[in-house]
Amino acid sequence: MLIGIDKMNFFTPNTYIDLVKLAEHRGIDPNKFTVGIGQSKMAVPTITQDTVSMGANAALPILDATDLGKIDLIVVGTETGIDESKSSAAFIHQLLNIHPFAKSVEVKQACYGATAGLMMAKDFITTHPGRKALVIASDISRYGLATSGEVTQGAGAVAMLISENPRILELEDVSVSMTESIFDFWRPNYTDTAIVNGKFSNEAYVNFFSTIWEEFSKRTSYSLADFNAFCFHLPYSKMGKKALLPALENESEDVQKRLMSHYDLSTTYTKNIGNIYTGSLYLSLMSLLDSDENSLKSGDLIGFFSYGSGAVGEIFSGRLVEDYDKHLLKEAHQDMLNNRYDLSIEEYETIFTKELPKTDGTHPLSEAKYDKSHFYLSSITDHQRHYNERQ
Ligand code: HMG
Repeated sequence: MLIGIDKMNFFTPNTYIDLVKLAEHRGIDPNKFTVGIGQSKMAVPTITQDTVSMGANAALPILDATDLGKIDLIVVGTETGIDESKSSAAFIHQLLNIHPFAKSVEVKQACYGATAGLMMAKDFITTHPGRKALVIASDISRYGLATSGEVTQGAGAVAMLISENPRILELEDVSVSMTESIFDFWRPNYTDTAIVNGKFSNEAYVNFFSTIWEEFSKRTSYSLADFNAFCFHLPYSKMGKKALLPALENESEDVQKRLMSHYDLSTTYTKNIGNIYTGSLYLSLMSLLDSDENSLKSGDLIGFFSYGSGAVGEIFSGRLVEDYDKHLLKEAHQDMLNNRYDLSIEEYETIFTKELPKTDGTHPLSEAKYDKSHFYLSSITDHQRHYNERQ
């Protein structure tokens, strides 16, 4: 049975900070951010956007009435969930009006969570032919103001509808995962900003890629020359390149050129949004497919490297389906990115440091000047989050 991504979309809040402006304010050479790190803009969510609202905003445009009746599994991958007990998937199930006899769960393993969700969904469809699964990746990346990780923050969500006979990408069966308990990046329950050993995290990422790739190529007999493109988890746009370049050393010039030019296309959205944690790999895929001008075709093999600090990684592959390009939401994605609000430094720092109320009673929330999204967090009443739909 062929199973894979039937529909996909992403959402990012409509407020961002320009990174040249941020570098100048911090007294840093802007080239460090734009060239050294490779980032241009960074999404900054208001308190009215959280993991639930962003996930629902990503999924809403791709689901029709038939999908809502056939989705039996909703998995949200996130490391910035909004409740230690109730899953963001249960909230999203209600916001999207999915039929009641579905199961909704949240999975966590840093930026690897959505890939775990995708693999669960593939297995689920194998045993439930004709049904569908909704995989959502939603996160807000926070290291703190004026930290070395500040430039690698971001926010956003990806939604993928998984089914048999998918219209965008068929997933192949062989994949290789790897786990090693390390402290390259983590976030204890009592803090809302991540703790990171930046250099070590870069090294761990590269080591995971090379170790898993060696095993994957052994098990599949694939070499990099078999791939038309390789998509990476992108905490910032330069990171995947650090892993890919050494692996390409012994490949022909043609293969190097093909994979590197497709790598560049896969980084466009990340450069303008930042790290969206577990959705990042799938944002790279959308960036590649939306930006490509006829160099990819149906049947082409695409590789994927998923990495979640702590750490779990996985390499898997998929093939583009005939007419896949007719099912992309390129224009909507472009509109979303072009119609954002460019925050001043003062606005960015004010929005960044705002906190949600933690006391009893009703607390209406409004960020109407900035947040124009369809779903938004509208109040917290007696510690319960309530969401509204903008009409
Ligand atoms: P840093 O110490 O601020 O930066 O940390 P740096 O000094 O290493 O410089 C960065 C690059 O800019 C270097 O290039 C410099 O040479 C260059 P590279 O050696 O990397 O090619 N540079 C300049 N270039 C041009 N003009 C200049 C200039 N100055 C310097 N004037 C770091 C950077 C990314 C480590 C930091 O921002 C950080 O800690 N970020 C968060 C951690 C992270 O993103 N790690 C990535 C791997 S782990 C991962 O992907 C998982 C993650 O997504 C979490 C999860 O799984 O949930 C993070």
